[in-house]
Amino acid sequence: MSLLLSAQDPAAIEAAAQRLAGGTLVGMPTETVYGLAADADNPRAVQRIFEAKGRPSEHPLIVHLAHDGAAQDWRAGVQHYAREVPAFAQALMQAFWPGPLTLILPRRSGVATAAAGGQDSVGLRCPAHPVAQALLVAAAAHGVQGVAAPSANRFGRVSPTTAAHVSAEFEALADDALLVLDGGACPVGIESTIVDATRGHPVLLRPGHITPEQLQAACGEAVRERDGAAPRASGTLVSHYAPSARVRLMDARALQAALDARTLQAPSVAVWTRSALSRCSGVEQRTMPSNAEQAAQALFATLRELDASGVSQIWVETPPDGAAWDGVRDRLQRAAA
Ligand code: TXA
Ligand code: MG
Repeated sequence: MSLLLSAQDPAAIEAAAQRLAGGTLVGMPTETVYGLAADADNPRAVQRIFEAKGRPSEHPLIVHLAHDGAAQDWRAGVQHYAREVPAFAQALMQAFWPGPLTLILPRRSGVATAAAGGQDSVGLRCPAHPVAQALLVAAAAHGVQGVAAPSANRFGRVSPTTAAHVSAEFEALADDALLVLDGGACPVGIESTIVDATRGHPVLLRPGHITPEQLQAACGEAVRERDGAAPRASGTLVSHYAPSARVRLMDARALQAALDARTLQAPSVAVWTRSALSRCSGVEQRTMPSNAEQAAQALFATLRELDASGVSQIWVETPPDGAAWDGVRDRLQRAAA
């Protein structure tokens, strides 16, 4: 069992910072999802992340930067890891950091090579969560310049939005191998928006809480969709974020028709819908918030909870159209693929 400590306790933050400095793993709450954190400049520590997740080591990790408006400033972190920063990327950092935005930048050679999966670029993010920042600032005082942290789930599985999710994912790790800081439920609930800034213009690699419209308004450039040349990104694999139960996405009519057609021998199902449906007896039901932000916050916890109820299928009502729902729609499509 991993060690689970309340992030309210300053001694827990310090203990976690010392673990990062010593090259072991920390479960770190962020505003998006929990991360599995390690010193980005320590290849052995980074290797532990890949091993614990079962993630291919050529899949790059995001490096998280400290910012406290005083001794620690994300600008110094960017200087350390990035070879150059295009003007539009500078504008995006200025507008959205600290916050749920990751920028892919040309990597300074010789830094965070293992964390970057050997690519000549590096993903940087300055998280807004107060516990993440307290940890990053404390770790910086021990010489840790950046913290590599993918979502704290095993490869391909549902991302964690509570400390309990993280402990459950890494049950097999001993308490000296993983300390999880409990900072409560993540307020955003889906991973950061990722913008590739290595190709002369902004390219959206992963939709999130910050929409293309907001990005464009902040940097004055249209954000393009990714094409086949995009770099490796696990979150962009067609099948990802998958619970054990099979996820099916259907509009309200198709969902009702599927419920109507169910027989006694049918596989057990759970539903997550905004619309009220009939003939749901014996079916585990959760209500999807009709607000995109609230649905994002609930998404991964709901998938985990319905999965844990032991059903063999989870039927989800297709999210509404519109950019505000892009992040939720994207995660659900990958969970269903
Ligand atoms: O909100 C988040 O971004 C969370 C929290 C913990 O910060 N982290 C997260 O990490 O979602 P992860 O590893 O699950 O997803 C990071 C994505 C992956 O799809 C990865 O391939 C991509 O970012 N990525 C990281 N560095 C990259 C790079 N240099 N080039 C292209 N993609 C990169
Ligand atoms: Mg992930």
